[in-house]
Amino acid sequence: MMTRREWIKRGALTSCGVALMGSHPLQVMAEPKKGGSADGGIQGPGSLKAHAQRRGLLAGSAVGLGPLRSEGAYKTALAQQYDLVVGEVCMKFGPLRPTPDTFMFTDADELVAFAEQHGMKVRGHNFVWHEALPGWFASTVTKENARKIMTEHILTVGGRYKGKIQSWDVVNEAINVSDGRPDGLRKSPWFELIGPEYLELAYHTARQADPYAKLTYNEYGIEYDNEASDKKRAATLALLKRLKAAGAPVDALGIQSHIQAVSSSTFGKGLRELIESAHQMGLEVYVTELDVNDDGIPEDDAAERDRIVAGVYRDYLDTVLQHQAVKAVLTWGFTDRHTWLNGTKSHRKKRPDRQVRPLPFDADYRPTQAFFAERDAFDEAPSRQAAG
Ligand code: XIL
Repeated sequence: MMTRREWIKRGALTSCGVALMGSHPLQVMAEPKKGGSADGGIQGPGSLKAHAQRRGLLAGSAVGLGPLRSEGAYKTALAQQYDLVVGEVCMKFGPLRPTPDTFMFTDADELVAFAEQHGMKVRGHNFVWHEALPGWFASTVTKENARKIMTEHILTVGGRYKGKIQSWDVVNEAINVSDGRPDGLRKSPWFELIGPEYLELAYHTARQADPYAKLTYNEYGIEYDNEASDKKRAATLALLKRLKAAGAPVDALGIQSHIQAVSSSTFGKGLRELIESAHQMGLEVYVTELDVNDDGIPEDDAAERDRIVAGVYRDYLDTVLQHQAVKAVLTWGFTDRHTWLNGTKSHRKKRPDRQVRPLPFDADYRPTQAFFAERDAFDEAPSRQAAG
């Protein structure tokens, strides 16, 4: 019997990959393969989460509250496929803080309730970031009150969801090498207001707020074998070492994994070394925001683009899942209908006229070849102890 990989290749070569996928959302018949369900379907034992679970992995996705409320197919697919969710927007500082003195928990509460109903775990994203800050931030937060505002935010939000969050991205994207500091720290508003120790403070406060969540440091631009990624990885590891040495409670590294389908850089060695180094520090590792941007693929043919995207999914996941420290894979959304990459043209610079197809389900909720690539990568991954 052909392996799934060979089958995907053949599908693309004969231009029938998409036709073979069928046209009924979530009722698609896939080629039966080892580890799949008896009928070759993608639900129940054939779902991403079932395949992930067999290896001790969590399969997750970012969630938008808009489609969760208004689209039945979105809700159904999420519940069928994933056992870990993260708010794409709803737990960020700005959305939670309409004014300096108030909190708006409607969306975040709804996400957590949805997850509870469906037996899913939740990642919290995020407490401290240089983006998604509210309009009032710049005029209200000063060197005098910044520590208080940050710690009260973490204590209030972390406290509200205490015991319900698998992992919290305590600090997001703290490194920006081009800001010119020797330690690579980003000159973010929090950095400017509090100084480099804002990080230690955030992690200590997060532990106090929720002692059950794995406290994660989440970063992007650390995936490739090129100079920029090399430098950012080195700065990220140095930061994690500094935090650990200072006794700050960091439990996990999140590798965002926004990947390009076509890139002049490859990935492999640097990623493997990063994961091993994180492991040596006692950290778990999560792939937190995977998507494969097909903007750079010159061909317009959807099947061809999907084949290339699926190949990158497979190679990327084969690389990271080789290490047993990696405990979860989340994509940044799951359907091409709702991907942040289509939100602005800044992620579609080569072909702004075209919608990207970066996720495991297409815009009509049919599984793409990336779905099968992700599932196969789970199957091929070595078994591991589940996330703590
Ligand atoms: C993005 C969301 O997907 C968008 O909807 C929003 O407009 C901007 O933020 N890295 C992160 C995420 O950590 O929070 C970002 O999410 C994508 C990049």
